[in-house]
Amino acid sequence: MSARQAISVRGGRTLEGEIVIQGAKNSALPILAASVLCKTEVTLYNCPRLTDCDAAMRILTTIGCSCKREGNVVSINPSVVSATEIPSSLMREMRSSVIFSGALLGREKRCRLSFPGGCEIGARPIDYHIAAFKKMGVSVQDEHGYLNLTAQKLSGAVIVLPMPSVGATENIMLAAVLAKGVTEIHNAAREPEIVDLAEFLIKCGAKISGAGTELIVIEGVKELYGCDYTVMPDRIAAATYLCAGAVTRGELVLAKADYNSLRPVISVLEQMGVSIYGYGGNYIYINAKKTLKAPPMIRTAVHPGFPTDAQPVLMALCMTAEGTTVFSETIFENRYRHVSELTRLGGKINVEGRVAVVEGVPKLSGAELMATDLRGGAAMVVAALFADGVTRVGNASYIYRGYEDIEERLRSVGADIRTVQVH
Ligand code: EPZ
Repeated sequence: MSARQAISVRGGRTLEGEIVIQGAKNSALPILAASVLCKTEVTLYNCPRLTDCDAAMRILTTIGCSCKREGNVVSINPSVVSATEIPSSLMREMRSSVIFSGALLGREKRCRLSFPGGCEIGARPIDYHIAAFKKMGVSVQDEHGYLNLTAQKLSGAVIVLPMPSVGATENIMLAAVLAKGVTEIHNAAREPEIVDLAEFLIKCGAKISGAGTELIVIEGVKELYGCDYTVMPDRIAAATYLCAGAVTRGELVLAKADYNSLRPVISVLEQMGVSIYGYGGNYIYINAKKTLKAPPMIRTAVHPGFPTDAQPVLMALCMTAEGTTVFSETIFENRYRHVSELTRLGGKINVEGRVAVVEGVPKLSGAELMATDLRGGAAMVVAALFADGVTRVGNASYIYRGYEDIEERLRSVGADIRTVQVH
């Protein structure tokens, strides 16, 4: 029987020291999919060791590519693609596997995938992806929960996204780089991971302009060739470790971090009274050895607004600050499932629809918690670092989807944290 894993934390320790930030999960995943478009080998550096990246590598081998990992270096040989179906088991395990559909359409003009269900944080439909593919000449057959995507020819098109969806923007880019003609993506997502994906594709020979703005223009080319590429730092993992340092009123240096991509999070932390600054190109220093004031309002938004993925971990920090914070979650309709778990520690949080009101408390006490999703689980670990006594966060597999060696990293700066097997 595969024993489930839990993360056990004895809170109350002040974190001090340096944490190296992992490569970005949400950049590595679309870039792993994009390697399918290349004729020759891709070598990816700073690719985080995460179960989600393992799943993406399993999809690559399932469709015929070979790929191997040595530490944080992943080599992909995409010269052969012998299948164009994304296994439903992998679609269920990781709904962002849908990103492989754009790559397979670009490479083979066909893809079969099971409908990605919703997940812990919302319905997560893919209607924008499908609508865009149809405009590019893809026919879509819906067969009992499976989608059959086929195209005689992939043509460039003018796509206007109803909202700047990260996944839809990425999927359209992957289908467009080898299509005939020019594709325009209006109301494109502007997240830093979109820029990272574009830079990878350009290095492989793609013609893309405007990544990071609301209008991305892609001119289809005939072929792409693999390259060596280094994945950008993970801004959400960095936000998580900043909150871990701040919740313990500690002092941390983040190494290999990207200050610019964290500006929305950093400005909230500054409002709370922490001193924080970037230096040396890829270091961030934070000192929270003081009373923290609650930021009055945190409203999630598409980039360059406050990132929805950092909402849970900032909530964990605000639970311990002086004053009240009103959260407004505008991106996902169900992203407060961590709240009921956090209140078990003694947090005072009330949820009404997409609004959560957090009243800071001077103390929290350890409890048995269950992770509800990736970022909700990380928020529980952050809050546990502050709580008196021992907190156990079950379903730690959610957390391992997005955080490389989280226990080792936190233990290296003083946290009393370990993995326990739950039978
Ligand atoms: C990406 O998900 C990230 N995942 C998410 O991170 C992140 O929360 C999200 O972008 C927003 O920044 C990866 O990059 C692998 P969206 P994605 O398409 O692409 C609606 C994490 O914790 N929508 O921007 O699925 C959708 O329902 C994860 O690392 C449609 O209605 O996000 C949602 O409400 C969680 N139709 C909103 O847009 C569509 O066709 C944002 O979704 C597509 C999206």
